[in-house]
Amino acid sequence: APVYRKDYKEYDYHLESIFLDFDLHEKLTRVTARSRYQRTGDSAAPLLLFGEELELTRIVLNGRELEEGEFSVDKTSLAISDVPDDFILEVETIIYPDQNSSLEGLYRSSNNYCTQCEAEGFRKITYHPDRPDVLAKFTTRIESDLERCPVMLANGNLIESGQLDNGRHFAVWEDPFPKPSYLFALVAGRLVCIKDTYVTGSGRTVDLGIFVEERNRDKCGHAMTSLIKAMRWDEEVYGLEYDLDNFMIVAVDDFNMGAMENKGLNIFNSKYVLTSPESATDADYLGVEGVVGHEYFHNWTGNRVTCRDWFQLSLKEGLTVFRDQEFSSDMNSRPVKRIEDVRILKNGQFREDSGPMAHPVRPDSFVEINNFYTATVYNKGAEVIRMIHSLVGPQRFRAGMDLYFARHDGKAVTCDDFVAAMSDASGVDLDQFKLWYSQAGTPVLEVETEWNSASSKYRVDIRQTCPKTPGQPVKKPFHMPIKIGLINREGRSLLSSEHADGSMTLELRESSQSFVFDHIEEQPVLSFLRDFSAPVRVEKFQSRKELAFLGSCDPNLFNRWDSINRLGCEVILEVTESMIKGNTPVIDELFLQSLAQSLEAPIGDKALFALSLQLPAETTLAQEMAQVHPEQLHLAKRYVMKTIGAKNRECFMRLYEKNSEPHQDHAITPEAMGKRSLRNVCLAYLMSPDPLERDMLKLCEDHYFQARNMTDAIAAFSHLVDVGGQAAEKVIDDFYRRWSKDPLVLDKWFSLQAMSRSEGTLDRVKSLLGHAAFSIKNPNKVRALIATFAGLNHYRFHRPDGSGYRFLGDRILELNGINPQIAARLLQPLIGWRRYEPVLKEKMKGELERVAAQKELSRDVFEIVSKSLASY
Ligand code: ARG
Ligand code: ZN
Repeated sequence: APVYRKDYKEYDYHLESIFLDFDLHEKLTRVTARSRYQRTGDSAAPLLLFGEELELTRIVLNGRELEEGEFSVDKTSLAISDVPDDFILEVETIIYPDQNSSLEGLYRSSNNYCTQCEAEGFRKITYHPDRPDVLAKFTTRIESDLERCPVMLANGNLIESGQLDNGRHFAVWEDPFPKPSYLFALVAGRLVCIKDTYVTGSGRTVDLGIFVEERNRDKCGHAMTSLIKAMRWDEEVYGLEYDLDNFMIVAVDDFNMGAMENKGLNIFNSKYVLTSPESATDADYLGVEGVVGHEYFHNWTGNRVTCRDWFQLSLKEGLTVFRDQEFSSDMNSRPVKRIEDVRILKNGQFREDSGPMAHPVRPDSFVEINNFYTATVYNKGAEVIRMIHSLVGPQRFRAGMDLYFARHDGKAVTCDDFVAAMSDASGVDLDQFKLWYSQAGTPVLEVETEWNSASSKYRVDIRQTCPKTPGQPVKKPFHMPIKIGLINREGRSLLSSEHADGSMTLELRESSQSFVFDHIEEQPVLSFLRDFSAPVRVEKFQSRKELAFLGSCDPNLFNRWDSINRLGCEVILEVTESMIKGNTPVIDELFLQSLAQSLEAPIGDKALFALSLQLPAETTLAQEMAQVHPEQLHLAKRYVMKTIGAKNRECFMRLYEKNSEPHQDHAITPEAMGKRSLRNVCLAYLMSPDPLERDMLKLCEDHYFQARNMTDAIAAFSHLVDVGGQAAEKVIDDFYRRWSKDPLVLDKWFSLQAMSRSEGTLDRVKSLLGHAAFSIKNPNKVRALIATFAGLNHYRFHRPDGSGYRFLGDRILELNGINPQIAARLLQPLIGWRRYEPVLKEKMKGELERVAAQKELSRDVFEIVSKSLASY
């Protein structure tokens, strides 16, 4: 049954403090929770606590053990009526971390114990209110075998530790900051600690520790550097200092998500901690920096100020994603970061927003909250914060943040509270703006322009609409910032503006609005929605000539990329259409020419140039089609790619060679990374002809065998896997032999095989399920092999016979009983079934129905399948 936002009611008790005692044993763990509750609400209200998969052994209230009949327990809760107004409750439960495959609550990963409590996992540890607006002081005692678990960690400061009999030992941790249960963490195991220190602006020394398994000791340097940079950045940009004497990060191999911001004790998927130049790609390095920053920034946006209820999830996630994006932009290249974030938004969030799972940034109801850790809550939520930043300006945004903390530090609040702080501090009216929190769907803008040479006036007309989404048939117009530029034939800006790129920001509020510019003496070209200033779709309104022009000289680097990208999209979709109709495809000459010209022209930023040469992903292109034909789409993109490759072979070869500098191979600087991505894009074009020339195969093999970093190695590896046959087998074996001991690199090995465009990919994926290095219980492996195949290999997943769907359905049902969160995530490639061509559409729907018909579906899977199938 769904929970509704409108039903929010304060909890009837204040939980002052909780003392947790964990007695860890080989087979089971005994948890004793001693809590002090004080009644705050209705005197008739029983004490209602949540608990799942717990073996209840004892309840003691104010020193007296309760007997049967004095409380009631069912599968999910414990209720005690007739409690006094102020009492101490002691609950003893037994849990089985070794058998916990959901990776929620206390579980074992490798040989270590760890926890994941967000959102509602604490109830798998002990009976508790387990809601984010119940904040308490936690003290945690851990007792375990000294030999097996020499390291025992929990939130806060270590206040006591010592030896016990029988080879056991104990540690007591105390967290001085009241917190909700979802921020609780415990870790116990055999780990080594990499140490450093950080001195805050006010002169306090913070001990930093990254805890990993011994074999990973040398792979923590980049995570540590990133942490220190994040701590400095938050002081410089927001005036926010860290507040405890120690900050710990633990890396575990089995983790449902990226990482978790538990107070003072962040627990990470090892993918976002461990790096080395040989084993991690440039993208991995950036990912570590971003996620380390993200979790650290949660200490203020999430932990010090937390969410009143889970409908407010974007309060902390949208804001913290915005903060980590800005951090990464400041540490690396801003336009490159923006382009990547927009690509993620368009590919993931726009898709979600246009299908049956569309929901507002602040949802109104849910069945299972874990299903709402979505691109909408995270990434669109970050765009909403970014728009506020644009509307109020950076100084007033900072004033809004200051006011937000001044008002709400130590409290559990709502998205409304955040917007109120922004509006009060800035004096900007954000009432209409708040529709971004409540209305789902991606707005669509239609633009028309007119230049009047006689009056020197230029007019831009903008009309906005928003498609219907589940439960929301009609929408009100949104308030949004539209950043634009006007440029003349020479590429010079025609607007007077304080921005270097000549931008100004229009505020759209009406469903239809005109903006008039005076003293425009020559015909301008409009550079629209610069930096993607609002998360909207823009209907085509510019000629290809204009797009090509903007692509070559828009002073706004984001829009330069965007224009080229739009052009590429149009051209590929045009070729797709003619292939669907059975016509001979023709590629727009203008597009080919402008691409060729850009290859000849002097190159500025290499990373940006590389991005502009990358054609859009099939999953992104598919969203632009009224009816998706995956095979024709794939063939069209390849046809465009190989045409470009063949026409510019010499150019790509020259660029490829010019950007090979072996002595730079290890540097993780924007320059070195840019060079690698440019060189690897060239390689992709050089490898695009079909059939492939012998010397190109040789070039690619050399690229692979001589690579001195993982970025180069997998670039070549992926092409060789696509080539298939002997060439593929040779490198698949080689790669495995080199990396058989490194689970994170093996994830790449699995996913690159799952991405292969060769005919036999599904069979290979199926057989890899049985590989010794694969485990269905490890989420990283499931993502690498199964989610990559189904979600990213658009062509081979959507096989006309439906066998890709059947394969996915089987895995979902298998995981439903093992790890419901991961099972539900795997449904993603099927959710948008309505948009596919009739034959595929029926098969996708059929597979969803088969899953839906299973008995004993988890709440997670049930919610997504039933919503996917429901009409709206
Ligand atoms: N709060 C974490 C983050 O964004 C995500 C953890 C969510 N986990 C979950 N199982 N829903 O950093
Ligand atoms: Zn987060």
